[in-house]
Amino acid sequence: MAAALQTNTRLHPINVFPGKCRSLNDHSRAPCRVRCAAVSPGEKRFNIALLPGDGIGPEVISVAKNVLQQAGSLEGLEFNFQEMPVGGAALDLVGVPLPEESFEAAKQSDAILLGAIGGYKWDNNEKHLRPEMALFYLRRDLKVFANLRPASVLPQLVDASTLKREVAEGVDMMIVRELTGGIYFGEPRGIKTNENGEEVGFNTEFYAAHEIDRIARVAFETARKRRGKLCSVDKANVLDASILWRKRVTALASEYPDVELTHMYVDNAAMQLIRDPKQFDTIVTNNIFGDILSDEASMITGSIGMLPSASLGVSGPGLFEPIHGSAPDIAGQDKANPLATILSAAMLLKYGLGEEKAAKRIEDAVLAALNKGFRTGDIYSPGNKLVGCKEMGEEVLKSVDAKVAATV
Ligand SMILES: NC(=O)c1ccc[n+]([C@@H]2O[C@H](COP(=O)([O-])OP(=O)(O)OC[C@H]3O[C@@H](n4cnc5c(N)ncnc54)[C@H](O)[C@@H]3O)[C@@H](O)[C@H]2O)c1
Repeated sequence: MAAALQTNTRLHPINVFPGKCRSLNDHSRAPCRVRCAAVSPGEKRFNIALLPGDGIGPEVISVAKNVLQQAGSLEGLEFNFQEMPVGGAALDLVGVPLPEESFEAAKQSDAILLGAIGGYKWDNNEKHLRPEMALFYLRRDLKVFANLRPASVLPQLVDASTLKREVAEGVDMMIVRELTGGIYFGEPRGIKTNENGEEVGFNTEFYAAHEIDRIARVAFETARKRRGKLCSVDKANVLDASILWRKRVTALASEYPDVELTHMYVDNAAMQLIRDPKQFDTIVTNNIFGDILSDEASMITGSIGMLPSASLGVSGPGLFEPIHGSAPDIAGQDKANPLATILSAAMLLKYGLGEEKAAKRIEDAVLAALNKGFRTGDIYSPGNKLVGCKEMGEEVLKSVDAKVAATV
């Protein structure tokens, strides 16, 4: 157990410092420390790194931080929040997307809550100076290889789904996406001129057996705690990396006799998600397929603004973030749905800190706010109350408090 922190519940201002950048080729990082939290009877303290990022990131993080703080305090948890710049915000401040100081603050924390990264302003930057590189560096260097993306259709939001009620109702799946390998990280990669003088762009889908095994184990364990069904999604009819993927996942199945394993090609999976999403319980897939399928799944649930995610490694802090981007089209207009980030804070409590009661408080409060009819624009349907990001946050906050009033 770590020593108790000296400070608590204090928001540090964003530091301005000369930027040192992390690079894609920096593989020298020592393993992440083992996560631990100060525990004394009735009181626990945790260091939380807040990385608001760009666009709607700061709006949704500010709301989620308040909810996290409140739910935690009702369960005897105290948080020391440290807010640091990443992405475009860091580029503007110090000229690099992930300053060393931001990475160190994240790495030394007990858990990380991230908003979103990116925006039009930096779209024409050179690749190493694009805001999104901060995400790649964070995921790679924190070694958070397992990305859990739950996608459930809440009864309150069935009508917000793009699918017919009878197809959407009752959908409850978990997408387990491999996050630190595959084509997003594989070498060789680049743009060069071929022998005919023509430019060619290329990337490499690369998976080592151990990378497949460790994500498959997370998926089998996840399925075991859910409805016991695991669907592995690949493209084994075309891609060699997928042939190995299928072979390794199949080999592991004998260790999980209580889990029913099936395989599906990714093109079929994309179709089945729309045709009959209820057939899925847990899905495990590679980095790029998981990226795409989880965005698709988000629309079944009503909005990309509803879906949280957790990225976990073997040790060290987990990274918790909504699956949406920085939504520059609505940034600064108080239109963002903060629920994905608030639910990411619940995942932080549950998967990052092992604080299930506080997590449940947040989940219940989100449902209570929806039950009262509060809706941001992306999930609005006639008859409900249209609210902005801040007001939705206030309503969730009130519901966190109301739960106490009801149980005292
Ligand atoms: N994890 C991340 O930080 C992440 C993920 C995806 C995209 N991005 C970046 O975000 C920027 C914008 O990308 P994009 O437009 O493709 O994806 P996006 O997710 O930012 O937005 C897609 C659409 O969904 C809407 N939307 C997203 N989140 C919402 C929310 N919480 N509430 C209401 N509506 C919401 C947006 O208004 C937009 O119409 C790009 O720079 C991209 O690289 C970042």
